[in-house]
Amino acid sequence: MPGLHAATQMVDNAQSVVVLSGAGMSAESGVPTFRDAQTGLWERFEPEQLATEQAFRTNPSMVWTWYVWRSMLVNSVDPNPGHRAIGDWQRSLAIGGGSLTVATQNVDDLHERGGAKDVLHLHGSLDRYRCLECGRSAEFDPSTTGVTSDQVFDEENIVATVPCAHCDSGVLRPEVVWFGEMLPTDAFEAAINALGQADLVVVIGSSGLVQPAASLPKVGKDAGAQLIEINPARTELSDGADIYLGSTAAVALPEMLTNIIT
Ligand code: OAD
Repeated sequence: MPGLHAATQMVDNAQSVVVLSGAGMSAESGVPTFRDAQTGLWERFEPEQLATEQAFRTNPSMVWTWYVWRSMLVNSVDPNPGHRAIGDWQRSLAIGGGSLTVATQNVDDLHERGGAKDVLHLHGSLDRYRCLECGRSAEFDPSTTGVTSDQVFDEENIVATVPCAHCDSGVLRPEVVWFGEMLPTDAFEAAINALGQADLVVVIGSSGLVQPAASLPKVGKDAGAQLIEINPARTELSDGADIYLGSTAAVALPEMLTNIIT
């Protein structure tokens, strides 16, 4: 893999690391990326057009079912060797007095299940819910809907939204960031702070098309960090990266971290 040797050396010298991950990170676990071909019903919709408050208000059951299905899908898959390698790397740096911050655009919990701690979820989390109207957090178990991860989507499988237990008019929505909404301030600021102190930034599996997350690699680079990109397809970031590894997360990360992982 071109660049692998140089990347391994950078890894061995790094003490303060930020990993920025996107949907490609979880692809080999079986979670489709946003810009891969979608199946069933979703062939007819742009995911971006469903990921807005307006889409939810216009067609709540359909958008709700999409998130319930994604949640069931994520719950049915496992972290891949790339997630686990990052968890090992974080542990190893912490033992040696260094640090590794994971900031992800992913709404799944595969980094955590792969062993990473204190993951910054820039686009929220699929397993948290709040009321669309009153904003109060709520518990919800998507498996109670009957939607399954292997279900082929069509209009007959749409499930009803869930009323809020606190207010009269609200229904639950997932605690994810929809287009047009602010990123969680705490997570975004923590990512900016970590990037300001990083000596190495590794960007994995993001098309770099969605702002403001797409601007984060440059924040690290401008503050003096070296930049490694892992993605089987080149992106707008690739030319500006110190090293571009044209491979997948589950393959490139264990190889790049070969001196570190247990
Ligand atoms: P995208 O679906 O836009 O891009 C996925 C990237 O992963 C592409 O560049 C692929 O080449 C790459 N990729 C595919 N398989 C891979 C693998 N096995 N290993 C490594 N890379 C791989 O996903 P994001 O950039 O994460 O936002 O999308 C950003 C945001 O757009 C999402 O968080 C979501 C979406 O609309 C919201 O919902 C707000």
